[in-house]
Amino acid sequence: MSDHELRYDPFDPEVIADPYATYRELRDRAPLYWSPAAGCWVLSRYHDVAAVLTDPITYSSASGIFPTPADVDMTAILLPMLVMSDPPRHTQLRQIVSRAFTPRRIAALETTIEGIAADLLFQVPLEDDWDFVSAFSGPLPAIVIADLLGVPREDRDRFRAWSTTFVQSNPSRGQLGVEVATALYDYFASFLAERRAYPEDDLMTALVQAEVEGQYLSEEELLGFCLLLLVAGHETTTNLLSNGVVLLAAHPESRERLADDPGLVPGAVEELLRYDSPVQGLSRTVTRPVELHGQWMRPGDTVLLLFGAANRDERVFADAEVFDIDRRPEHIAFGRGIHFCLGAALARLETRIALQTLLGDRSFRWEADLAGAERLSSGPVRGFASLPVR
Ligand code: HEM
Repeated sequence: MSDHELRYDPFDPEVIADPYATYRELRDRAPLYWSPAAGCWVLSRYHDVAAVLTDPITYSSASGIFPTPADVDMTAILLPMLVMSDPPRHTQLRQIVSRAFTPRRIAALETTIEGIAADLLFQVPLEDDWDFVSAFSGPLPAIVIADLLGVPREDRDRFRAWSTTFVQSNPSRGQLGVEVATALYDYFASFLAERRAYPEDDLMTALVQAEVEGQYLSEEELLGFCLLLLVAGHETTTNLLSNGVVLLAAHPESRERLADDPGLVPGAVEELLRYDSPVQGLSRTVTRPVELHGQWMRPGDTVLLLFGAANRDERVFADAEVFDIDRRPEHIAFGRGIHFCLGAALARLETRIALQTLLGDRSFRWEADLAGAERLSSGPVRGFASLPVR
């Protein structure tokens, strides 16, 4: 263990390129670390992160969950979102949206997703270099969410373009896609009005009709939830896929096994989630004085939970730095507790189908050009803005 000064800045490009050595130091040397650069506490051990996630009374989500530099104002996009609410409101909202966002509705998407993945791959020029993000991992989840919501086919391209701009406008850097958010908001508002008048068999209609004990979602909550589906479900899945093809290119023996036995893919998806988590960390606000690892956090303090570090904690995962598709990790990449990812089943389904589609063509074995790739500059999301493959 070195004795140089430990420094962790989630916005530092070098850390973003490869945070894992710093994470190890944090876990070993400063399990509760004050980051002057981020102006918040940082937790990196698995059990600490899990404990905070399962105590939403002490650690609130209501003041925001993205670590942001001090000069960035988040209020412009703070819609009344499920993910930024605490009990009892969260419990009510989650019950209502769960009436619409059902396992049956997600499972029914299987054939649709297979079709979308095959179409996207079919359009790729396999003999040349191509950008995996713009051709495959970016569009796939956007089309799936559009389809799930019931966005009409003729609006799909427009929707996809907005969605991409919206999710790539990076809140932690202050480049808010306010214009696009407004366009999307207006679009959802008129779409919503139409579904109220003419119900269809889609998620938007189900959300309008969803009710628990006479309580419905308000107009604002409905629009907020639609935007949340994009924020939470688009770029995260894109990056799981991008990180996945990079890891499998670096582990050709695992890739061959997955190609030979597609039944191994669901297990491999869990290891991808653990090993290179798309959401590296989210934050909470402390509501009462708490002592942890000999230091006091005060009410109003922000604490960043590093899922990416927790998922490599050797206290929980043997040989945590080794990528092993036979591991069945109880990772924390989808969070835990009351805010556990509502879209986890959808993300798993999309990623399994996408990988099986890519691996299904025996003549197609990709190499990833990491030197030519562009990493996302955002703190919480780990992945690529562009990723040349050949
Ligand atoms: C919540 C990760 C895909 C919808 C979360 C949380 C994490 C997460 C870590 C917990 C947030 C917290 O504790 O504050 C991921 C990852 C994904 C993914 C890594 C892909 C690999 C999706 C998809 C959807 C979705 C596809 C829907 C289309 C949501 C929603 C919440 C959430 C609505 C908020 C739940 C609540 O607050 O009760 N996600 N997510 N996610 N996710 Fe996902």
